[in-house]
Amino acid sequence: MRIVSIVGTRPQLIKAAALSPVLRRRHEEILVDTGQHYDEAMAGAFFAELDLPRPHHTLGIGGGTGTAQVARMLLALEEIVAVARPDAVLVYGDTNSTMAGALVGAKLDIPVAHVEAGLRSFDRRMPEEINRVVADHLSRWLFVPTPAAVANLAAEGITQGVTVVGDVMQDLAARIAPTVRDAAPVTALGLRPGEYLFATVHRAENRLPDALRAWTALLGAAASERRPVVLSLHPGTAAALEAEGVALPPHVRVIGPQGYRTTIALQLHAAAVLTDSGGVQREAAWLGVPCLILRDRTEWVEAVAESGGRMVVVGLDRARALDELARLAPVADAQLQAAERARTLDLAPAGAAEMVAEVLGADR
Ligand code: UD1
Ligand code: UDP
Repeated sequence: MRIVSIVGTRPQLIKAAALSPVLRRRHEEILVDTGQHYDEAMAGAFFAELDLPRPHHTLGIGGGTGTAQVARMLLALEEIVAVARPDAVLVYGDTNSTMAGALVGAKLDIPVAHVEAGLRSFDRRMPEEINRVVADHLSRWLFVPTPAAVANLAAEGITQGVTVVGDVMQDLAARIAPTVRDAAPVTALGLRPGEYLFATVHRAENRLPDALRAWTALLGAAASERRPVVLSLHPGTAAALEAEGVALPPHVRVIGPQGYRTTIALQLHAAAVLTDSGGVQREAAWLGVPCLILRDRTEWVEAVAESGGRMVVVGLDRARALDELARLAPVADAQLQAAERARTLDLAPAGAAEMVAEVLGADR
């Protein structure tokens, strides 16, 4: 099968690093990078680090409003897909690049494959929710990570073409995690295992002025001299903090976007993770790290339900976050917990990439 795969953002490059090599064993893949993310640390660096093949087409469409991004992507993607005439257009996740790719496939009457289909936050104020609903309703193949996603699709009348494949990100995490059992990437940043909290914040709703103030205060309250918060700052969040004049509190140490391996290491060896990222919350679950989700709800309901209380949706509730940290990662125990976690780490791949490649192959 000839497949045009569309990526554009950091998590999509990471997902493609798991799927592309497997896809290419059975299919012809034309990889298109919309350029939605464009900084070296947000995009370019992952090609080398994760052995992701260079894209056949790089569109350079980043920045601007979501609508403008999608509009420009539609025009550029249409030209490529119309010439390539693939058997399928494959899109990942729920970004503007996902929605643009799915629309172009549908308009050109080329079947669409959606990897990470069926997730719902049930909040249409989130740009991601619109993107995933559109992509799902236009897709011929819906590769879903969880049973809850099957139920979400069924509730919207989508029952055909749905396959539970697991999570492609787990395939990659399982490959990389054993290489960071040794805390070297963490100590190289001047940190001691179990003696820091790792944070990432980037969702659109957390870039609004009130939310910026709430989560910075939350991180400030969680941080101490003895246990700083290490915040890997997305450039969009950095821009929002600057525009709003919000300063980060003491003991919240900002680092720029990190490589994938370092990010996995930072999670594994942390006392706890605080995040609004979809990818990071699942990785924290797989690694067994206590995780506070800085959103009001999550699409990854199973990860939370199956965590035995180790993952908690706290939103931006500072008091709740402090209580949960005291319960899940008390300062006195956290170092030992982190060491034990690294020692006993045992993460199996999901086999999702193989299943996607196989299902697409079986359809010919
Ligand atoms: C996008 C996705 C989000 C995903 C996230 C992963 C949409 C609607 N959102 O959000 O679902 O979780 O990627 O990280 O598609 N910027 C830079 N350099 C970059 C990239 C972005 O400076 O390399 C800044 C720019 O100011 C840009 C802003 O970040 O305007 C927002 O970027 P954008 O790609 O529109 O959305 P994300 O917030 O990254
Ligand atoms: N990630 C990374 N460097 C960072 C922060 C995150 O490599 O500094 C990785 C993280 O390990 C996960 C993915 O990026 O694999 C998640 O992407 P992001 O948080 O940008 O988006 P989301 O998953 O929320 O869509």
